[in-house]
Amino acid sequence: GRVAVMLGGESAEREVSLRSGNAVLNSLIKQGVNAFAFDPAERQLTDLIGENVDRVLIMLHGRGGEDGAMQGALQQLKIPYTGSGVLGSALAMDKIHSKQIWQCLDLPTAKYQIADKSCFEAGSCNAIMNELGNEVMVKPAREGSSIGMARVTSATQLANAIQDAFIYDNEVLLEQYIDGAEFTVAVLHGQALPSIRMSTPHTFYDYAAKYQDNTTEYFCPSGLPTDKENELAALSIRAFKALSGSGWGRIDVMQDATGQFYLLEANTVPGMTEKSLVPKAAKAAGISFDDLTLAILATSMP
Ligand code: DAL
Ligand code: MG
Repeated sequence: GRVAVMLGGESAEREVSLRSGNAVLNSLIKQGVNAFAFDPAERQLTDLIGENVDRVLIMLHGRGGEDGAMQGALQQLKIPYTGSGVLGSALAMDKIHSKQIWQCLDLPTAKYQIADKSCFEAGSCNAIMNELGNEVMVKPAREGSSIGMARVTSATQLANAIQDAFIYDNEVLLEQYIDGAEFTVAVLHGQALPSIRMSTPHTFYDYAAKYQDNTTEYFCPSGLPTDKENELAALSIRAFKALSGSGWGRIDVMQDATGQFYLLEANTVPGMTEKSLVPKAAKAAGISFDDLTLAILATSMP
């Protein structure tokens, strides 16, 4: 049978997915895998049945591809797919539900509030700033690649950033800004790969810092002492499992000046572009990009 590499799609992260998907597809073909590109924006899902597909490698980012919808559809078609199932995908896509679950399990995550489009009042922004501290991150609940996000330092900025975020989602996460360093931990077949520390001159690790300019510095090994590296790895594995994540993924974490970690979010289809993080972590662990694409494909085994 053949492997369909699902890419593109209709989410706001379409362009990123095309870059991830094509990189993965080229790697698989080079290694003799009978793989082809399947862009859900251009094809009907039922086409998979006529294509003699026996596995799907999901490289879709964002809603419709990373949020459980596609996973459920493939399950109905009885076609095995890579990565997390319906529940894990849906929970990890939603930053609010992710934090609520982590909180229930006493896993560390920054203080937050929720802005709901149907009942949000700009007049509440002063109280929110008081509650969350003088810097707040504004995030659409279910987006990726920092799309629709802002870092704000006043009630007026907060109100504007919330309105901007409502373009992307009816629910918006307002999170205490953690002043410190940003880390990410890739998870592959139940193991944490070495952490990466990202350093950006931007106000945060935004879309441009991720994909467009070359100003971001990546440190892997991250420079954490061994005990902290181990703590971060264990925390990331727990956080991923808590959301029912499986196969492969990536956990994003902040560390404040005292050394305390705060879970930001989980990604069940992390980027695989030439600038992305999981390939960097794999490389540091001695896993080439080609080994990594085969390992991801292997997560689809029943
Ligand atoms: N959402 C992007 C693709 C990432 O997490 O890498
Ligand atoms: Mg994400």
